[in-house]
Amino acid sequence: MKTISVCSYISSMGMSVPDKVSTNDYFAAYLDTSDEWISERSGIKERRWAEGDIGISELSERAARQALANGGFTPQDIDGIVFATVTPDYAFPSSACLLQKRLGITQCFAFDLAAACSGFIYGLSVADGLIAAGRARNILVVGADVLSSLINKQDRSTCFLFGDGAGAAVLSSVSNNETGSKRYIEGNITELSGLYAIDMRSDGSLGGILTAGTGSALRASAERIAANEHCIKMDGREVFKFAVRALADVSLNVCQKTGINISEVTHFVSHQANMRILQGMAKQLGIPEERVPSNIARYGNTSAGTIPILLTEMIDLGRLKKGDLVLLSAVGAGITWGAILLRW
Ligand code: UT7
Repeated sequence: MKTISVCSYISSMGMSVPDKVSTNDYFAAYLDTSDEWISERSGIKERRWAEGDIGISELSERAARQALANGGFTPQDIDGIVFATVTPDYAFPSSACLLQKRLGITQCFAFDLAAACSGFIYGLSVADGLIAAGRARNILVVGADVLSSLINKQDRSTCFLFGDGAGAAVLSSVSNNETGSKRYIEGNITELSGLYAIDMRSDGSLGGILTAGTGSALRASAERIAANEHCIKMDGREVFKFAVRALADVSLNVCQKTGINISEVTHFVSHQANMRILQGMAKQLGIPEERVPSNIARYGNTSAGTIPILLTEMIDLGRLKKGDLVLLSAVGAGITWGAILLRW
């Protein structure tokens, strides 16, 4: 029997998206574009946008409450909140602290993490490390963004890609022991549930191909906002080419780390940036497209939200079953990318 050691597993999940739907025809009404072009090039048919000043902590509250309820957790059970977002409510307080207040949790740590579309993978990785170090038993990991706040609606090459959404998971320790005692369990690699392998990467030298936002290096001013300088700028072709290669590379790596063959993976739950990126990744890995689930047609790219939203929908539809091998992967601004192999 081949064995594996795990420290944590996803014990429950939740998601939320805004009510307002914007279809491709919205853009076709004022830009030189069409529903046909957007659908063919990206797979996106519609996306959700938060209205008014709905911030990311407000949007995430429903996802977080759902995750807590689905796992039977009370606020007191949560030892920490890791909130992956690049569209925080404010510079400070962090969205993690704002969500903590909304949930009525008082005793836990809470912080934001900025890894753009790779945020949920980074968040799970950091939470797994904190659990392995004995600093927490249950961590609420949120992946969420309101990218509608950064869209340049006049830029036809980027404006149709992005939507708003939030997903949340409770990552729990596999061990029932108290802090200080054994923090991992070893078991049969064909059945033990938990996070098997993680690969987290970044290359800041490539960061210029995907940028957004104001900050200390680009101070917000009325002129800059009016000129859309705070909005998303992207070299789509470069991001596309990099994404296909990088997703395939980290996917193979997490399989190699565990000795699991890529063909054994049940679901490739990958960041929803473009349907053709998912198809390119499937081709490079030599896996059937049926194993690469997608909901990009309905939500577009919700950045850190895509993976937890898709996982939650798969659970709700009964597509994700105990024992399934799941490979999470993502690429985002930074450039950041990464993968996690887990057994559900
Ligand atoms: O999460 C990570 C963040 N982002 C991504 O992963 C996105 C990665 N990139 C992409 O998804 C794709 O590059 C896009 C969907 C953004 C663009 O698709 P593409 O097949 O790479 O198109 P392209 O940029 O090569 O443009 C092809 C043509 C151009 O015209 P010319 O130069 O061939 O005459 C564009 O001007 O399509 C034109 N075009 C459009 N036409 C109609 C660009 N945007 C549009 C549009 N409607 N909305």
